[in-house]
Order: sequence, then C-alpha cells, then structure tokens
Amino acid sequence: MQNLDQIAEEAAAAFAATDDPDTLEQIKARFIGKSGQITELLKGLSRLAPEERKTAGAAINRAKESIENALNARREAIRRLALDARLASEALDVTLPGRGEIRGGLHPVTRTLERIEGLFRSIGFEVADGPEIEADFQNFTALNTPEDHPARSMHDTFYLLDENGKVAEDILLRTHTSPIQVRYMQAHVEKFSHLETMPEIRIIAPGRVYRVDSDATHSPMFHQVEGLWIGENVSFADLKGVIADFLRRFFESDDLQVRFRPSFFPFTEPSAEIDVAFMSGALKGRWLEIAGCGMVHPNVLRHVNIDPEKYIGFAFGMGPDRLTMLRYGVNDLRLFFDGDLRFLRQFV
Ligand code: PHE
Repeated sequence: MQNLDQIAEEAAAAFAATDDPDTLEQIKARFIGKSGQITELLKGLSRLAPEERKTAGAAINRAKESIENALNARREAIRRLALDARLASEALDVTLPGRGEIRGGLHPVTRTLERIEGLFRSIGFEVADGPEIEADFQNFTALNTPEDHPARSMHDTFYLLDENGKVAEDILLRTHTSPIQVRYMQAHVEKFSHLETMPEIRIIAPGRVYRVDSDATHSPMFHQVEGLWIGENVSFADLKGVIADFLRRFFESDDLQVRFRPSFFPFTEPSAEIDVAFMSGALKGRWLEIAGCGMVHPNVLRHVNIDPEKYIGFAFGMGPDRLTMLRYGVNDLRLFFDGDLRFLRQFV
C-alpha cells in the first residue's frame, strides 16, 4: 500500500516542520483526527470484501501507529525545546564578577546605644524594654505626676485618637523611657512577692520617645537611656559614682569634669541636672547639660508597691542623641533622622 507509506511520511514531515504545540495538534487532526485521512480510510474498510478487509485493516493500523509514534516523539521534542529555551533565558552565570560591594554600617545613634548598654552591662545592669504607645498611668501617674500636676506641661505629649476621632486621654506616645522602669518594677515586685526581701533592681531602659518639639537640638522622636538602681542601701554617692564613671568611660576621657546641679523632677527627690565639661577639644571648658537624675521619690515606689521605708534608690535619664552629637561633633540633631546617606556614610 504505497499510499499509506506516503501519508505516514507526509505526517512525519508536517510534524517536524513545526515547533508550536498548538499547530502540532492541528496537524495531527488532519491525519488521525475524527475526519483525518487515516480515519477516513478505516471507515472505508466496511466497503471491502472480508478477506481484503483484514490485510487492509492491518496496514492502515500500522500506518496509524507510525503516525502516532512520530507525533509523540515530536511532542516530547517540542517540550524539551521549550524547556531548553527557558533554562537558557533564566540562566544565572555564577562565574560572572560581582557588581561591587555596598558596605552597610550602624547608625551613629545605634552605636552610642550599644556602647551605653555595654558599659552598663559591665557593671551589672540589665537592659529593659517596653512599649512606645504607653498608658497614662505608667508614663505619668505612677511617676508622681497626677493629672493636674504642673510638671505634665514640661512634656509636650502626643496623644492618640480613639475610634471616634476624639483624644484618648489614657494612651499616648511615651514622653520618656521612665515607664519602662515602672513596668519593670511592677513585674519585679510580682515575681519576688514570695521573698521577704526582693533582689536589687539594676536596669537601664533605652528606647525611642516622643514629644511635640522640633528645632536644631530637638526632634519629635528622640532617644533616651534611663537607669534605675533600687536596693536596701543605695545612696546619692552611688549615683554620683556610677554616672561619673560611666561618662568618663563613654567619652574615653579620664579628666572629664562632671557636675551635679540641683533641679526638679516629680519622680525624684532630691533631683539634679548633670553637666560635663571637656578639658580639651572644640568644646573645652564649656559646661554642657547631658542628663537628669535623683533619688527615686517615695510616691513612685508606693505606686508600684515597693515599701519606701525599706527600699531606696536612684534614677537617671540621658539623651543618647546628644551624647552622639558631642562624641562626633555633630551640630544639628535632625541630621541623625533625615536619612541622608552623605551624612550617615561618615560613620561607617
Ligand atoms: N524622665 C526624665 C525626663 O525625660 C529624665 C529623668 C529620669 C530625670 C530619671 C531624672 C531621673 O525628663
């Protein structure tokens, strides 16, 4: 049957001529589809005499089989071509040289925070943390600053709005990191309630704080590191020693002058402002205010269920942004938060 071989060859040639899967299926229909050439031949078998039908049928089926084999082989080949093309287009040449390295670095204020944490850890302080959205109680009331206390106006507070757009009196952006200390004391008292005498509290509380304020030396978001040491026998002399030692180590300057100037904070009594003066460099001889401190007010201890007759301690709070400005000679606080890489790269 010359004709059948021709059809099979024609089909194989047509399959080979395309590499598109849809076209391939259309070509298939021309030969072995419902009204394809081979299918029509099979339908015609019924018109043949029985003895002819057998040999003709076998020959047609052989041709059909060879067309199907050619079709399957082509399907597989086309699939592989597509895969190869995709692999080639998505290839990653790992032997190419790199595009140059970009060096990252820690933000100067982060460096200061890490430095402060390291220095205080070295003398047995723990680092405590707390939420930036605070409750009025922890931020003010527990710190001996009740609602009508004039000292509240020392902090220009960001309040939050409730779901009706009204100022929510009870929650605010913390204006200092002192509420971390309140939370820590509350948890500490709870944790050691079974003991007659609780272990000492010795923590620093670093973090972001918020006040409505913005100029060259104030930013609406800035940082604080506060410290707290509570025990049965902690004195103002300990406070002076810890602070002066810390500052000399922080600025790597043994002859740094440190001065305690009487001041007021609602949560400490007596209170002091801490000033430093450098003995050399651009700021030589000028007194610079860098922290507040004092002995924790008995009312604060009462608010967190610590007996002020038994325990006593000191607290301090300083601005790591200011410390960073002094350490690196930066004159505008806002530079730290502008995200200008030309400025920040200098610290890498
Ligand atoms: N929380 C005070 C402030 O932000 C700083 C401070 C802390 C002062 C502890 C004294 C003692 O103003």
